[in-house]
Amino acid sequence: MTMDFPPGFLWGAATAAYQVEGAAREDGRTPSIWDTFARTPGRVLGGDTGDTATDHYHRRHQDVGLMAELGLGAYRFSVSWPRVQPTGRGPASRRGLDFYRALADDLLAHGIAPVLTLYHWDLPQELESAGGWPERETAYRFADYAHLVGEALGDRVGLWTTLNEPWCSAFLGYASGVHAPGRTDDEAALRAAHHLNLAHGLAARALRAVLPAGARLTVALNPSAVRARTPSPGDADASRRIDGLSTRIFTEPMLRGTYPADLLADTAAITDWSFVRDGDTDVIKHPLDALGINYYAPSVVSAATDNRPARDADGHGGERSPWPGATGVAFHQPPGKRTAMGWAVDPTGLYDLLMRFTREAPGLPLIVTENGAAYDDKPGADGAVHDPERIAYLHAHLGAVLRALTDGADVRGYFLWSLLDNFEWAYGYSKRFGAVYVDYATQARTPKSSARWYARVIRTGRLSPS
Ligand code: FCB
Repeated sequence: MTMDFPPGFLWGAATAAYQVEGAAREDGRTPSIWDTFARTPGRVLGGDTGDTATDHYHRRHQDVGLMAELGLGAYRFSVSWPRVQPTGRGPASRRGLDFYRALADDLLAHGIAPVLTLYHWDLPQELESAGGWPERETAYRFADYAHLVGEALGDRVGLWTTLNEPWCSAFLGYASGVHAPGRTDDEAALRAAHHLNLAHGLAARALRAVLPAGARLTVALNPSAVRARTPSPGDADASRRIDGLSTRIFTEPMLRGTYPADLLADTAAITDWSFVRDGDTDVIKHPLDALGINYYAPSVVSAATDNRPARDADGHGGERSPWPGATGVAFHQPPGKRTAMGWAVDPTGLYDLLMRFTREAPGLPLIVTENGAAYDDKPGADGAVHDPERIAYLHAHLGAVLRALTDGADVRGYFLWSLLDNFEWAYGYSKRFGAVYVDYATQARTPKSSARWYARVIRTGRLSPS
């Protein structure tokens, strides 16, 4: 197996608006569902909010300098919808768009390709108050927003991502409620999943209409690398159900224009899916230029003897299940090393997903749009932050990418999650995923040893043997 990445391989790092920007009340930005959720006591660990986050809104220039030091070829960021279209409808905010124009200009000046995600979970609160993702109207609002951002940034951004991890938006947001908006309604979650799919298709169409011909479109999904605990028929069926609810609910309409029959059957007691209208799946199946895969850890499932709703064992937490219709499924922690999230370290899950989509979507390039690990990093006496576990994690997962490349997967790029330590959703600032350490009291940035390690991989285009 080669240790070299192909020429032109896109080396990146990723962040998301609410997790890094701060400036929550500046320049006309209105609250998103994450502002409301985080400001509600008890929702986020330690009462943390994204009000200041890593202050990237004001430190953009310095942060792009850090990216240049790392030698990044690309930076994946998301646009805050309520910053550029404060009420979720109607005219754009010039000041909001100016921030992203300036960010893109800074990146381009350093030879770093801007990779833009339209939606990384921060729905304008006004749209949630009007019903949120369970309402079909939200999909049309998203398409308008996509059009407006496409028009403003199409001259600067070549790679566009519609949604980030719609599974989390639908099922953590509306079923288990551990993410904003914190609702716990299984039917609403399934409606949300469909309207996110529809939003993706409508936005892809809107973007195509305004973007230059060479622009590329993608979506960042978090398909689960789900494994049956044993080969027994019961465990295999548990795995099939979770695969339907986590992965095929998005990939089948997006890639094939249909919802899987087994998913509809599994969820029949919750909904008849009559919210899917004629023609919707044709809209959702809009041609993509690449499929974005976010991967952290695999899941192991078995048939449960009780009939309780399925619950994750991988740190998604919550009192309620994020798996509507998946009663009788038990989740298990795979043995072996874990990250500070409690997630298993298992790069074979990434390999398996890359090979799966190589088979299931032949001809569609793949991009690892997120991969990384949280550890309890602390500066040492010398002020340096040594994170050998993260280096080992990244090394192993880049090894999985190389193995997939060797076996025929068309992987075009890899984005480390995350450039900086940041606001890790319901875990607040307690989990550090960054290659760069952030001291939240001073906002000082210190590249960890993994940042230097990653810079060397980027510079040489090669993974040295561990
Ligand atoms: C993913 C999210 C990203 C980050 C990582 C750890 O699910 O897309 O924002 O929180 O997990």
